[in-house]
Formats: sequence, structure tokens, C-alpha cells
Amino acid sequence: RPNRDQDRRAYDADGAEARIAALTEGGYDAFANTPDTDPDLPGNRAWGREIANRMVGSTLGSDLVDSSRITDEQELEAAITRGIAAADEWQALSADERARILHRAGEKLEERRADLLEVMGSECGKTLDQGDPEVSEAIDFAHYYAALGQAVTQVDGATYQPQKLTAVIPPWNFPTAIPAGGALAALAAGSSVIFKPASASARTGAVMIEALWEAGVPRDVLQYVQFAGRELGSKLVADERVDRLILTGAYETAVNFRELRKDLPILAETSGKNAIIVTPDADLDLAAKDVAQSAFGHAGQKCSAASLVILVGSVATSKRFRRQLIDAVESLKVGTPDQLETQMGPIIAAPSGKLLRGLTTLGEGESWVVRPKPVTDGGPLSVDRDGTPKLWTPGVRAGVRRGSEYHLTEYFGPILGIMTAKTLDEAIDIVNEIEYGLTSGLHSLDRTEIAHWLERIEAGNAYVNRGITGAIVRRQSFGGWKKSAIGAGTKAGGPNYLHGLGDWTDAPVRG
Ligand code: ALA
Repeated sequence: RPNRDQDRRAYDADGAEARIAALTEGGYDAFANTPDTDPDLPGNRAWGREIANRMVGSTLGSDLVDSSRITDEQELEAAITRGIAAADEWQALSADERARILHRAGEKLEERRADLLEVMGSECGKTLDQGDPEVSEAIDFAHYYAALGQAVTQVDGATYQPQKLTAVIPPWNFPTAIPAGGALAALAAGSSVIFKPASASARTGAVMIEALWEAGVPRDVLQYVQFAGRELGSKLVADERVDRLILTGAYETAVNFRELRKDLPILAETSGKNAIIVTPDADLDLAAKDVAQSAFGHAGQKCSAASLVILVGSVATSKRFRRQLIDAVESLKVGTPDQLETQMGPIIAAPSGKLLRGLTTLGEGESWVVRPKPVTDGGPLSVDRDGTPKLWTPGVRAGVRRGSEYHLTEYFGPILGIMTAKTLDEAIDIVNEIEYGLTSGLHSLDRTEIAHWLERIEAGNAYVNRGITGAIVRRQSFGGWKKSAIGAGTKAGGPNYLHGLGDWTDAPVRG
């Protein structure tokens, strides 16, 4: 097992300590350590209750959303021209001056923590226990990229050439951290940004961008836009004056963007179909908890989520482990984010297509161990505009067969499949057969098994004896392998991320 104390000492970025402690010690409870009596302390339950009470009916961010819609090609052209002109202004600042502004962005994000939690809960169904570490992650990105931006000019004597314009197109499922990470990285790399949030999280993106403006990032250097039609987004990416694209989304979306302009360098983190392997040498209590949290945090709507657990050897027939896993799943408090006790919140929209099929049908040989159900009396944040429930209880299916649709498909929702393998190698083969390679987990206390798994597993982020979501900036830089990434292959929150955002006269050494 990792030496937890040493790991914690090794990391010093703001906001990370509490999250590392929480991740290693079992579940994040933002409100666990502060008395209810001090209303000024962030993390206080009264503070949480106040935020939760504001979620229903929240309109935070909507002014900017309404005023930023680009409706035709002339407006798009004007935005591109403004961004390019502003890049000169941004690059005229020294790297240290830019870093100062970006550190301040971290402070402003901290000041807007309550607003971000309110808007994420109201717009995306993010529970406080998921949203709070997400805001911390955005803050970590600000400080980390600020520091990287100061160093990026000096790598091994190679000359760094900043770019003028980066398009940042983030997803809705991490509506603060991933968008902030993309925008802050591009800014730290010296580029102007056109930022286009996912429409499902446009208000959250607006609050986050306002914090960066408040910190002193000029509005033309960082433009917030919404597009009135899909084709305007395609036009932006296809425009030769866009130097880089930072994208997080489905693999197919990234491929479509790549087809638009083959010469555009893309930094894309895409889909995942992630598994945790549990061997007979695992700490089974820890494994059950980590599997449940990795599968059902944010209702499984994470590219990093565990969608499969693969039980090796005697674990496959262990009644105790099965009971523990089912208990862990069935005891999750399902509800809306305005209820503080909620551990699993709603899906972003009433499930349809592939996800609905995954929640309601089984493949050959499969059976429900825990059957998912819609919740029909969950209150205003639990339903779509037309009243269809988007709150579902978690589902666990056993008997998933190798090569089946469930084995190989990403569902992006609250479903976990159980597979079995006779040996660790068979389990690794089952994982490596999947086209994606984003996160992967092993629960084993055997050093030989750990080393073997690390040698063979095909995943960008490999975690041992820990959940497989919640990568921590700098400590676990994040990015995929195989069909989970497109482009430069560098990892967000890691030392090389900015390298891919500029040009070099000589290639820097990648460490
Ligand atoms: N960076 C996010 C995680 O690690 C996706 O869960």
C-alpha cells in the first residue's frame, strides 16, 4: 500500500490536503470536521444547508449566458478577431505577471465556492460532496498552471512560442473543474481563449469565467460564448486562425472535430469504460467501498467512473464480498443535491437511448443484483422540464459476459457490471480488450500482483487500492490511452500539459 503520510507530505498545492485525506480515508464529507456552530466556516453544515436551499430556482450565471450568444458568422468572426488581437496584449505581460493573475484566479474561485456549488447543484445535479472537491480541483489547476506557465519558457533551452487562440470546449459533468482547467492551461500557456461551455452547464461555466475575469484576465483574452447553432461551433474549430483545441467529450465528438480540420492540434480527453479488478489478496472492505464510490459518485456520470468490477478467483464466489458490495450500493442515499444527506444525485437528463437500455434491459446470461428504478417523488430537481424522472437508483448486474455489449460499451450512468476471472491475467485481458483506456483500478495487497498489473494494464490512469475517480492535480495527472484520448497525449494537471499548447523550436524533453 502507498505510504499515506508520506504521500500527503509530498503534496503541497492548495486545497489538496483535505481531499487526499478524504480519498485515502474513506469517502469525502465536506461537513464532517467542522462544528455546526460556526456559521462562517466553509464546510460547516449550516453553510451547506444555506447553499442547498438556494439550488431550487437558482438563476446564477444566466445573465452572462443570455448576453453571450453568438448567432451568426459575423459575430463569430468578430470574436475570433478580438481574441487574436487580445493575445498580443496577454503575451506582452511577463510570464510572472500572467502567473500573478492566474494565482488570483485561484483565490477568486475560492471566493465563489458557494456560488459554484449552488449553480452546479441547480443546473447539473451535483451534490455538495462531489461539487466541493471539484471547486478545489479548479483552484489547484489555477495555482498549478500558473507555476507551470512561468517555467514553460525555459525547458532544456528550447524556445517556447505561445499560440494566439485556443478553443476550449468542455463537458457538463465536471462543469467547474474541467472547464477551468482547460481555460487556465491555455491562459498560462500565453494564449487567448474562446470558451464554449456545454449547454447543460452554461450557467456554471459563466460563474467560473466571471471569477477569472474578476481576477484580472481581460475579457477579450478569455471570451465566453454560446452558439445559437451547432454549425457555428464547427465553424470555430474549422477556422485556420484557431491554433489549438482543448476538448473533453465523447470519443465520437472528438473524431468529428478532428475531421473538420486535420492539421489542428487537439488535446482531447474522451470516453472511458473503466474496471476495477479485485483479487483474493485485496482488502475486501476497502474494495467494496471504493467500487461503490467509483461507480456511483455523480450517478456514474464521469468518464473516470467504474463501470465494471472484475472478481478474481475466490472473490468471484465470496458471498461475503458480494453482500458487502450490495450493502454498499443499496445504502447509498439517493436524492437531489438540495438534500445534504444525498450521496447519489440525478442523471443530467431523463435517460434515453443507450443509457435507458442499460438501465432497463439485460444481456444474455446477466441478472440484476440490484435493479435500478426511477424515483418518481424526488422533488423539483429530480425531474426534467416535462416532469420525466432523471433521478434513478443505482443498478448492479451480474453475469456480464466477455465480448458482450455491456462489457465493451460506455453507458455514462449509474450502472455497474460484475464480471469474473480465474486469474489476474484473465482479468487484465478482459480490461485490455476494451477499446478505451482511461482509468483502471486494482485492489490487491500483493506487491507482485501490483507490479504485474501495472506492467500490463492499458489505461492512462492506473490506481492501486483506491477509487478510480477524483484524480488530484499534479499528483495524478489525468488523461487517457487508446480511444480515451485524441491528440498530443499529454495529461491535464501534469507537468507536460502546457507543452502541447505552444510551439517549440526544439522538442523539449518529456519527463
Ligand atoms: N478528472 C476526473 C476524475 O479523475 C474526471 O475523476
